Amino acid sequence: MDLHILEHRLKVTSIAKQGLFVFTHPLIKLIFLRSRTRCKFLSLTETPEDFTLVLDEEGFKELPCSEYLQVEDSMWLALNVVSNGHASSSSQAVGVTKIAKSVIAPLAEQHVSVFMLSTYQTDFILVREKDLSVVIDTLQEEFNIYREVGGECVPVPSQDVHNGFQKNGKEATVHPVLSPLNKFCVMSLDPDTLPTIATTLIDVLFYSNASHSSQDLDCVKFFSFSLIDGYISLVMDTEAQRQFPADLLFTSSSGELWRMVRIGGQPLGFDECGIVAQISQPLANSDISAYYISTFSFDHALVSLPHRSMSSIML
Ligand code: ARG
Repeated sequence: MDLHILEHRLKVTSIAKQGLFVFTHPLIKLIFLRSRTRCKFLSLTETPEDFTLVLDEEGFKELPCSEYLQVEDSMWLALNVVSNGHASSSSQAVGVTKIAKSVIAPLAEQHVSVFMLSTYQTDFILVREKDLSVVIDTLQEEFNIYREVGGECVPVPSQDVHNGFQKNGKEATVHPVLSPLNKFCVMSLDPDTLPTIATTLIDVLFYSNASHSSQDLDCVKFFSFSLIDGYISLVMDTEAQRQFPADLLFTSSSGELWRMVRIGGQPLGFDECGIVAQISQPLANSDISAYYISTFSFDHALVSLPHRSMSSIML
């Protein structure tokens, strides 16, 4: 299996809801007028807390300075596992489950903090740029590692310095989880048809509070849009989905719906490691597909399971 270290250099930011008006103009440019920016990695997720915006340096330049914008200090790099044809496992599972044992667990053991972004197409594992040598050290046994440089894939020479490999048995913090009742779908869209759904997307992204009549306390607002290297991925609940024309968005042939587990009572911060590992390991053991989306405050696992069996697996 190959592991690619992508070229994008990413910032993880949070836009306060009451300050969204300051960012609508740049966001419309970043989402709908791709030819006017050099941004190639953009992920925008609305949760009850805020809008989490992960974007590359080029995209970040489009954002105004504002008291409503919080920016995590580090520069993050995205890792992506590319299976080169040979099915190396018998697992049919998708999402974070596929990489739980090979990537997520080893990084957690080496105390590398990750930030996960699953999309319809693939799973991006964000790591801090300063952790890159530990990451390469940790994953080179399992993977052929390539670094993207100017669009080309360059093999990363193997390092044989096992510097400071610690396996201290510090118990992981167990965070409270919350599992709302809404069901989610993970979808995609041909980028050429993005203009066709523009008004709906603007409505859902920027005016959803006005249009959502149902104040259902058992449902949690979660809407994610990403446009990464020309691929679009959307995660929305069935209520948001009804607002989009049915024929343009597509999903996997099984068309399944996902339940969400939100991880964290207090904001999780960015330094703690092992949270994704804690959730994805048991899912991998049971071969249960899951998408995993980190946001500025919390983590979110999307699991293809009925509600009740889910909590028993998580605990
Ligand atoms: N750093 C955590 C881990 O390595 C995941 C991200 C949690 N933090 C967040 N702001 N979502 O498992």
